[in-house]
Amino acid sequence: MIKTKNISFSYTEYERLEELNSSDMKLVTAAREAAMNAYAPYSNFKVGAALRLKSGAIVKGANVENAAFPSGICAERSALSNSVSNHPADRPIALAIASMRANEFTIDPPSPCGSCRQVIAEEESRISGKIKIILSGKNKTMIVDGIGDLLPLQFNRKSLEI
Ligand code: THU
Repeated sequence: MIKTKNISFSYTEYERLEELNSSDMKLVTAAREAAMNAYAPYSNFKVGAALRLKSGAIVKGANVENAAFPSGICAERSALSNSVSNHPADRPIALAIASMRANEFTIDPPSPCGSCRQVIAEEESRISGKIKIILSGKNKTMIVDGIGDLLPLQFNRKSLEI
């Protein structure tokens, strides 16, 4: 029996940053600040990520590139490594991402790369909870409830169970 199945995902779109709640707005500001600290001399594409933890602490990360290209790290993984390393018991609630090209924030919201989606999925599994993801562009912000919306049919720790 052949069946075609459909997976849908939903997000909320905001035209203006002021439409976000104040803690999400603050997190986007932190992601923008982090983007300004990025070291991206090869792509000139600066990305910033900011995590809000349960305690209210904010942990930032930026992309850090390398002349040996694969040795560079994305902003999202940089922020997550920082948070797990320094606040292992304080779980992330939300993650905001912002990006800049030629020193201007991008009009469209950034979308995390495949490797970062996989790492965000691992963090959701580590904390047994969802992380709200806020993708912020100059003219629009998109919010998804968790990585499941950006990475359906994911390979995770359950996939390793016999
Ligand atoms: N980058 C990120 O930091 N996050 C992503 O999700 C996509 C890409 C970085 C990697 C590289 O330094 C630059 O953006 C261009 O790909």
